[in-house]
Amino acid sequence: MLDARTPALDALVRQAQRECGSPDAMGPTALAGLLEKLVSAPQLWSPSVRHEPTSRWYGSLFRDDVVDLWLLTWQQDNSTDLHDHGDSSGAFRVVSGALSEFRPALGNDGDVVLRRTVRRPGATVSFGPRLVHDVHNVDAVPAVSLHVYSPPLSSMTYYDVAGRGLSARHTEPVEVRDAGEGIPERAVTVEV
Ligand SMILES: [Fe+2]
Repeated sequence: MLDARTPALDALVRQAQRECGSPDAMGPTALAGLLEKLVSAPQLWSPSVRHEPTSRWYGSLFRDDVVDLWLLTWQQDNSTDLHDHGDSSGAFRVVSGALSEFRPALGNDGDVVLRRTVRRPGATVSFGPRLVHDVHNVDAVPAVSLHVYSPPLSSMTYYDVAGRGLSARHTEPVEVRDAGEGIPERAVTVEV
């Protein structure tokens, strides 16, 4: 299944790279455009959707020197925690269910608060490398989302809200792991 799907997915990603006019790096707008193409071709990724009973799961669908593409599934109360994306720009799109995105903002008293926006199918969210956010499935309905980054995601720093700012807690390399037949080449289940 994976072998049959990969050439068409590769072709779609490489076409998007050519069309963006900057083959060595894709910005937020170009990454959002790539996700639009993918949503229009669910046969390229929907066979890889895998739900864990209680855990968040993600698998790498594509990765080269310019861009990486991930498929994620979320059960109720799964969240990423507050994080950045290293030097990468990115875009994500919910394709089933709904996800709550929390972004730091200044509250009325000057302290940092987390503002929630519900992301649903039909809209793509894109961002530059400075974004810090937490993504959370608060609903009982499982969610599925597609995420793309350029340059490929290599590390993520996690943060705590600390009064009028954010406090960096730790930085982790992005884990890329081989997985078995029938699911993406690299897949990870994240315990919550
Ligand atoms: Fe993120």
